[in-house]
Amino acid sequence: MKKRIVLALLAAAALCQPLPAEEGMWLPVLISQRIEDMQAHGFRLTAEDVYSVNQASLKDAVVLFGSGCTGEVVSRDGLLFTNHHCGYSQIQQHSSVEHDYLKDGFWAMSRSEELPNPGLTVSFLERMDEVTEAVLRGYDASMSEAQRDSVVKANSDAIVKSVADPDKGIRARVEALYYANQYFLFVYKVYRDVRLVGAPPSSIGKFGGDTDNWMWPRHTGDFSVFRIYAGRDNEPADYAADNVPYTPKRFFRISRAGVKEGDFTFVYGCPGSTKEYVTSDEVRYVGEVSDPEKIALRTQRLDIQKKYMAQDPAVRIQYSSKNANVANAWKKWQGEAKGIARLKTVAAKQAYERRFEDWARGGRYEGLTGRLAAVYARRNPAYRAYEYYTETVRTVELLQLAGNVKGALEGKRPVAPLAESFFKDYYRPIDEEIFVAMLEAFDRHMAPGYKPEYFKKQLAAYGSVAAWRDDLYARSLFTDRARVAALTEADLPQVLADPAWELYDAFYQWYRQDLQPVIEDASRELRLLYRDYMRAQMEFEPGKAFYPDANLTLRVAYGHVAGYSPSDAVHYSPVSTLKGIMEKDNPDIFDYNIPQALRDIYAAGGHEAQPVCFLATNHTSGGNSGSPVINADGNLIGINFDRVWEGTMSDIVFDPDYCRNISLDIRYLLFVIREIGHAGWLFDEMEFAD
Ligand code: ARG
Ligand code: GLU
Repeated sequence: MKKRIVLALLAAAALCQPLPAEEGMWLPVLISQRIEDMQAHGFRLTAEDVYSVNQASLKDAVVLFGSGCTGEVVSRDGLLFTNHHCGYSQIQQHSSVEHDYLKDGFWAMSRSEELPNPGLTVSFLERMDEVTEAVLRGYDASMSEAQRDSVVKANSDAIVKSVADPDKGIRARVEALYYANQYFLFVYKVYRDVRLVGAPPSSIGKFGGDTDNWMWPRHTGDFSVFRIYAGRDNEPADYAADNVPYTPKRFFRISRAGVKEGDFTFVYGCPGSTKEYVTSDEVRYVGEVSDPEKIALRTQRLDIQKKYMAQDPAVRIQYSSKNANVANAWKKWQGEAKGIARLKTVAAKQAYERRFEDWARGGRYEGLTGRLAAVYARRNPAYRAYEYYTETVRTVELLQLAGNVKGALEGKRPVAPLAESFFKDYYRPIDEEIFVAMLEAFDRHMAPGYKPEYFKKQLAAYGSVAAWRDDLYARSLFTDRARVAALTEADLPQVLADPAWELYDAFYQWYRQDLQPVIEDASRELRLLYRDYMRAQMEFEPGKAFYPDANLTLRVAYGHVAGYSPSDAVHYSPVSTLKGIMEKDNPDIFDYNIPQALRDIYAAGGHEAQPVCFLATNHTSGGNSGSPVINADGNLIGINFDRVWEGTMSDIVFDPDYCRNISLDIRYLLFVIREIGHAGWLFDEMEFAD
């Protein structure tokens, strides 16, 4: 009956609340345990309003958008808001030279003009239920881990099978929470006819680009508008011209009352991944090894890309999205590493671990942190080599092409489209320079025991990475667009003999043989030890409220509108306005070149105070993009799209002084739809609370 004690403890742990209101991503189904605290902070609704399976609740207006963002329903006709960067690939797919919706924006002027997006889905959470007992039925403590895994898998599969109904769009998943101390069933209804209704021009939707990404003050109009369609029975259906707008169980009413410092805010969405309960060894690896090394490598790549982008507008376009991708995590890691250092999280966790071990002495958890440390000691050198490999050799585009073409030929897939999309955005001088910089960095920073034999031999033979590069790019067929496009299965021997494929493959085989087994063994052990350590931490601190790490399931985060002070003598206030856009506006700087229409509207006067974005203390993460930001009355006041970089360590440790999420003020969305999109017809179906 130990299981029962653990469950009771888990429930009790979630009940108590000494955490600051800001920290935490709570499970909606357990919201009754937080509701008093939420109400104490200003929330005026009930637990049943937030999550209910008996009546329509706010959860019925929130969706997982695609497979990594959040969205919210805002009308009884299935109108949906998410971020511009979440709808980006759909907007891009509909764009052509004649209709450049990325550049100019897109606005359907009637429902018949809304654009279908094959493959795009939105998933509504029907319900979530704790199923720990059912998942562990038949398990007893004498079983091996392999046996436990197969019990868990068999039971989970049976549970999923009993509720899933693919024909009706009902999908189900059993998710392990609290490091597999608890299991929850999530049942989703997935709609698959989702049409694009509107998007601002990128100069609004991506205003500030990567210059302002993760930054405050921020002025990005990061939204796009979609509509969910259903069959005549309101159920999920494949795209069909005569599908009808989906009638939701619940949609958000929009508040135009605005926000001010201290106002209650509530973010309802799907954060992707956090690790709040790891040991000091993991934090040290992230903050002192992994982040700094990856940042340094990416700085080199970004500098090389930027140098060529500045010389040629065509290259700037080719590399802008690649550059943005490299820069996004690069900037996030900087905030994470700095935050971990500033908060002295390693030392704080070490002190915690000492207290924990004092408490654990003589019991079954004794020595747990030491066992975790031993696994990290074994794992980290191999894991570091793996990360170095992915951030160096794997970033060379020519080698990626060789790998992809080989895979396509073997899988009997056509190569021509691959070649087409690759060369459209390929600039060889950038790639050659990155080849040299990355392979040199690998050589310099990896100990001899962590380099492939092939790499050592080749480098010795060539004498330098530069000489190797000259020879490889001169001989490889992959530099030649026409030759790549014409490759067929019959050419496989040629591909296998190509120096680019050889290098790609030699590293991959080394990874498979030397690194992967070590890393996978260690991960398995870590999983087991963390299962105990998570449970042990809950027993050690029975008075603390533990929220489960994020895993892209629906969560509630609540806090309040707040500015912050990033450094001495600097204070940021929490609301940005159109005036700030005008201050940044510069036709010569791509990221700050706003549409002329916006300049004209501003010049006409009266819009100086138009709010654009605001800051709050909600605990969010990647995946919360597009999440509804809700006020004390449950009405929509914003759309979450980012965090400030100084607070990105919140995936590991939350700091109420620095951690801020960034939201688009819903009134800016309304302003852009009206003034820039002239799509006021959409207001007819929205409901305004004030
Ligand atoms: N930082 C945000 C996120 O992590 C926005 C990324 C997209 N925007 C950009 N400028 N790259 O997803
Ligand atoms: N931009 C992120 C996303 O796409 C949200 C920012 C973050 O909190 O990591 O989910």
